[in-house]
Amino acid sequence: MATPALQHDLAIQFGSEYGPEEEAAVLEVLHNNAPTSGQECIEFEREFAAYCGTRHARAVSNGTAALFVSMVALGIKPGDRVITTPMTWIATAAAPATLGATIDFVDIDPATYNLDPRQLEAAITPETKAIIPVHLYGQVCDMGAILEIAGRHGVAVVEDAAQAVGAEYQGRKSGSFGVTGCFSFHEQKNMSTLGEGGMITTDDDALFERIMLYRSHCTRAYGKETKYCQFDREQRPMGKQFWWQDFDDVGYNFRMTDIQAAVGRVQLKKLDGLNARRAANAARLDAGLADVPGITCPTTLAGCKHTYHLYPIMIDPEQYGRDKTDFIYDMLHERGIKVGAHYNPLNWSTAFKNRGYGEGQFPNAERVGRQLVTLPVGPRLTAEALDYLIESIRELCRG
Ligand SMILES: Cc1ncc(COP(=O)(O)O)c(C=O)c1O
Repeated sequence: MATPALQHDLAIQFGSEYGPEEEAAVLEVLHNNAPTSGQECIEFEREFAAYCGTRHARAVSNGTAALFVSMVALGIKPGDRVITTPMTWIATAAAPATLGATIDFVDIDPATYNLDPRQLEAAITPETKAIIPVHLYGQVCDMGAILEIAGRHGVAVVEDAAQAVGAEYQGRKSGSFGVTGCFSFHEQKNMSTLGEGGMITTDDDALFERIMLYRSHCTRAYGKETKYCQFDREQRPMGKQFWWQDFDDVGYNFRMTDIQAAVGRVQLKKLDGLNARRAANAARLDAGLADVPGITCPTTLAGCKHTYHLYPIMIDPEQYGRDKTDFIYDMLHERGIKVGAHYNPLNWSTAFKNRGYGEGQFPNAERVGRQLVTLPVGPRLTAEALDYLIESIRELCRG
């Protein structure tokens, strides 16, 4: 059984780690009145956009808000259809569904677990307004194929990059392919802003204006002398010039605090190093599990830089001697290791059964639902913890 120290290192729920730099950043903002959407947010957005290679970025309160505001900015409404994968966290599909759109799921590529572009075109209808590819487990989707099909049909592509901050496809960063890229800084993610947080990236100036508006109650401030108009928190530097406020529409409060942004700035500087440690951990898992009967390790597509948010393995119960459910249970009770099950396909959920879906519709996603388990691979893992993880999986095989 894993010692408490090993269990701490193997904890799948913490994706990043904090150090004295984050602590100092928190205290500095705290001593500066801990504002919301202030200078730290502005700097974080500027640095994040530069990192992704996009013109703009706007910080939001979480990844769900990033997806939702993207849908609002695109004008998604009842009667529209939005395509995504059934193999994702419900937030992806919830964003358009809560605005009244119909969700069309497209099955996944069994090699990468990402939306299969070969099945995409058949799902596009005249009502399709957006496609949300999800860069699952840290690997960017086949964006070349997806953008080509979407472009031919005039459909917007919104990237769900919640699990793929820093990941690359053909030398370009996630979040720089779609009309927007949506990131999450939840506690499990490769970088975190104190447990919650998110970011929207875009190159589109008009869309960015709508994102800025809806993120914060569609507020504009006008200066008396300049007649210049600015958005919510940027009115502050206007000082005496601020004169009156107007609201273009009714919107939301999805703002981020400066303490979170200050931590995000430190995390962003560490991100490449943290992701490199994940890649090294994944390589050790690849080597240690390659010959275990019934275990399939993840595949990385040529031209992709995988950032291993999680390390997915498929378990063939015939060959391994245990099915997914028994494996998860036995790993916890016999070895003290909590592994994950990301995800059951959304067409199995009550939410989407109530929307006309059912079992047996997406064979590749459903095979993943029956057989896929996610292992911790984050930067907290020591060599000892990784070897204990590998040894445990080997020992449970037919054991
Ligand atoms: C694929 C995917 N999309 C969206 C989200 C939503 O992000 P958040 O939890 O920050 O709202 C998550 C996070 O769990 C995710 O994994």
